[in-house]
Amino acid sequence: MQKPDFDAVVNALRTVNDPDLKKDLVTLGMIKDLKVFDQGKVSLRVVLTTPACPLKEKIKDDVIQTLKAVANVETVDVTMDAEVKKTARPGGPAGASAQNTAHGIPGVAHIIAVSSGKGGVGKSTVAVNLAVSLTLEGAKVGILDADIYGPNLPTMMGVTENPKLIQDQARGEVFIPPVSHGVKVMSMGFLLQGDQPVIWRGPMLHNILSQFCTRVEWGSLDYLIIDLPPGTGDVQLSLAQMLPLTGAVIVTTPQEIALQDVRKALKMWEKVRVPAIGIVENMSYFRADDGKEYRIFGEGGGQMLARKFNSKLLAQMPLVIEVRKGGDEGKPIVIRDPASEVSLSFRDLARKVAQEIAMMDAKTKDAPSLEIGSF
Ligand SMILES: Nc1ncnc2c1ncn2[C@@H]1O[C@H](COP(=O)(O)OP(=O)(O)OP(=O)(O)O)[C@@H](O)[C@H]1O
Ligand SMILES: [Mg+2]
Repeated sequence: MQKPDFDAVVNALRTVNDPDLKKDLVTLGMIKDLKVFDQGKVSLRVVLTTPACPLKEKIKDDVIQTLKAVANVETVDVTMDAEVKKTARPGGPAGASAQNTAHGIPGVAHIIAVSSGKGGVGKSTVAVNLAVSLTLEGAKVGILDADIYGPNLPTMMGVTENPKLIQDQARGEVFIPPVSHGVKVMSMGFLLQGDQPVIWRGPMLHNILSQFCTRVEWGSLDYLIIDLPPGTGDVQLSLAQMLPLTGAVIVTTPQEIALQDVRKALKMWEKVRVPAIGIVENMSYFRADDGKEYRIFGEGGGQMLARKFNSKLLAQMPLVIEVRKGGDEGKPIVIRDPASEVSLSFRDLARKVAQEIAMMDAKTKDAPSLEIGSF
């Protein structure tokens, strides 16, 4: 068996497209460590923009089938890999450049806010299951509880230890966030004693949020999920000013009364120029033991919002008792019952969020040039 021709292999790879980014893998700079051997063997690494890519298997199959059609190629050894790149989004509200410190958190590629104008629609539940699902897909993930009035994340993530304080030469005292279910977790809940209510005034609030960004050792993260309190108030605006948010995942329930508030949230994100990654309709239906679906909170709201704001409906989550139990017991449903329908929906949501971000990125960046050195 002859050695396959290197150029023929590269040319074949130029015909394999990333279906989302609509460009070929060579142009996208996704082919690394390409080698051809005697005996008809080809080996390569395909480096995607997210480990949670929903098309990973399809791209792998396409590469193998395409290369097997090249003369003298017998076996193809493909390793699927991913490298989440930092967003180039400028970020920050219009006209706020003077006080806008939106230069991000070192080492964190994407910051995703989970938001809703309305309380109790399942923001924290979605944030937690999204974070854990992204981890299960192989991403490095952190979650920040920005609900400093009613921090629920330590409970919902099942964190039992407090963050550690270390001394950093440049930054002074720095928190090391505890890790639960593979996710780094930071919350005001760790810093409060007992059940005392929190009363923050504007500057204090800005200050504590800023500390969460600069004085927490997040390390290297692909995604930092921020669980926001309800509403369109100071916390949301402070964060939008402080951080170059990649985008916001908007959570709603289907009924009109929720939609009224969620519309306000969508308008607020529009104003501060944070793109909506998409909409999650939570508590969409309840399936009884007889299989019948009950639309307890009405129908069609998520779809309507998506249409009106030119966004996407990413998921419709059922109302499931185990989801609530998972929150209360600190064992998110995607860990508690990974094969359940709702867990599979959360895993699907995570891949879609990663996919939307990869596509948003591709639009804002020039395509990387072909890295000759990697061949
Ligand atoms: N799909 C679901 N099925 C069953 N229970 C759910 C579901 N989504 C959320 N819940 C439950 O509903 C309650 C409210 O959810 P959650 O705390 O996530 O909402 P929230 O929007 O973050 O609320 P807040 O505005 O107070 O921050 C929780 O007890 C949670 O476990
Ligand atoms: Mg919450």
